[in-house]
This record gives sequence, structure tokens and C-alpha cells, in this order.
Amino acid sequence: MTDRYAVIGNPISHSKSPLIHTLFAQQTGQDMSYEAIESPLDGFAATIQRLRDEGYLGCNVTVPFKFEAYKLCNRLGNRARDAKAVNTLVFRDGEILGTNTDGAGLLADIEKNLGIKLMWKDALLLGAGGAAAGVVWPLFNAGAGVDIANRTIEKAQLLADEFKGSGTVYARRYEELAGRKYDLVINATSSGLSGELPPLPDGLFKPGALAYDMMYGRETPFMAYARKQGAEIVSDGLGMLVEQAADAFYLWRNVRPDTQPVLDLLRK
Ligand code: ATR
Repeated sequence: MTDRYAVIGNPISHSKSPLIHTLFAQQTGQDMSYEAIESPLDGFAATIQRLRDEGYLGCNVTVPFKFEAYKLCNRLGNRARDAKAVNTLVFRDGEILGTNTDGAGLLADIEKNLGIKLMWKDALLLGAGGAAAGVVWPLFNAGAGVDIANRTIEKAQLLADEFKGSGTVYARRYEELAGRKYDLVINATSSGLSGELPPLPDGLFKPGALAYDMMYGRETPFMAYARKQGAEIVSDGLGMLVEQAADAFYLWRNVRPDTQPVLDLLRK
């Protein structure tokens, strides 16, 4: 019987994950299916139970259910524990196992695909919601100094407080950014969805800097701003999406797909 997987979100119709996993399965000769399932906003746990009852082997979880998924798990990987959010579930031996591959996906895209080492770099993370929480530990662990800027400074401070004592993660108000310079600015806000730009000053980018928007599928105001401000590399989040999918695929199937041909195809 074909092994079944899915991605659960709301909304979910725009998701590229079914295409990505279908391409991975073809490439590695795996007999599996992967579909997009929209869960009612108040029915995530019931949706997961239905999948388990129907014999699905695992799923990905996306907006807005990553925190709920975290709470449903019987066992967690470190990355999920750090992020307090889960994007990959495995249903095994009557248990729900969870981890988070988003941060590793971002790192793989920046270091492997874009060729930029994070060690000793100054990074600015914009936003302090779920998307930001999933990547702040991986950025820190890769050796970057991280400033977190957010409109609601209390949320940035909560994230930064997890690193108290280590001294390399700071919460900043947007107004405090004037005069600071970064090797890497990552937009993890949802501002692009509404066509907005966080209130960023001029002169944020060091020479050779990378501007990375975790959104994909459109040119966001942040990307346009970064080009105008002279960021050397401006990237959307499609590579991160493909890389986090590859990590999930590996956890489910024990086979590591080659991401580059899939990324090339999606970019066409
Ligand atoms: P997600 O899971 O995508 O991170 P979220 O938890 O709702 O979604 O978080 C959205 C993030 O985008 C928040 O950091 C939010 O800032 P606030 O915490 O101050 O609300 C940020 N955000 C959304 N729209 C923004 C805008 N126009 N300018 C700046 N930040 C914005």
C-alpha cells in the first residue's frame, strides 16, 4: 500500500509542499503520496486524530497550527523544544513524535545554497512571532550574533531572554536600528502579506550583505527595500521551504533527496 503523508494548515491551497514531496518521491523512488489538507481553525487535534485513524504515517504542519502541534506531541526533538513549535510529525507505535525542520532549512539555504557562512556574522531578525521563533536558536547555534527587532518589543524581549547570560541575542526597537549595520537581515514578519514594510532605516546593510525574506512566491516590499539599499544578495524563502521539506522527507523515509534540481524546477 502507498504510504500516506500530508501538510495541514489553514489556509493551505497555496502550499507548494505537495509538489516538492512528490518530486522528492519520484527522485528517490519512494512509494508515497502527499496531499494538502485544510483543518478547521478550531479542529486541529481532531484532524490529526483522523489522519492517525486512517493510517497516515506523518505530516507537516504549517500556519497557524505549529504551536498546537507542539502541545500534541508525546515526544519532541531538541529543535522543536527550542522553538516551542513543530512543523513535522511522525505517527509511530501509537505515539506522536514531533520536530521542527524550519531552522535547519533556513541554515541549509543560507550556507549551502547561497554559500554564506553564519559563524561570527551580525544578523538582524525582523519579527518575533512563530516564524521568527523557529529560526532564532538555529541562527544562534550557527555562530551568528542575533538582534531581534519587533514592533511589539515585549515579544522580541521574550525571545531574547532565552539567551540571557550568553550575551549575543538582543531585542531592539525599530527606532534603535539607525546607525547599526548587519551582514544578514532576515524578514520573519508577516508584513509582506499585507504589502507592508517594517519601519527600517537607511544604511542597514554591510558590504556583501544578504537580505532574506522567509516569504516566497512574491517580491515583497522588504526585498524591494533591500535591493534599493544595496544588499548584495536578496533572496526569498523558497530555498528554505525546499530544505525544510528535505529534512522532513529524510525523517520519514530515511533517504535524503537532492534539493537543487527541485529548487531549480520550482524557480522556473
Ligand atoms: P508568524 O507565525 O508568521 O510569525 P505571527 O505570530 O502572527 O505570525 O507574527 C507576525 C510577526 O510579524 C510579528 O512579529 C508582527 O509584529 P508584532 O508582534 O509587533 O505584531 C510582525 N508584523 C506583522 N505585520 C507587520 C508590519 N506591517 N510591520 C512590522 N511587523 C509586522
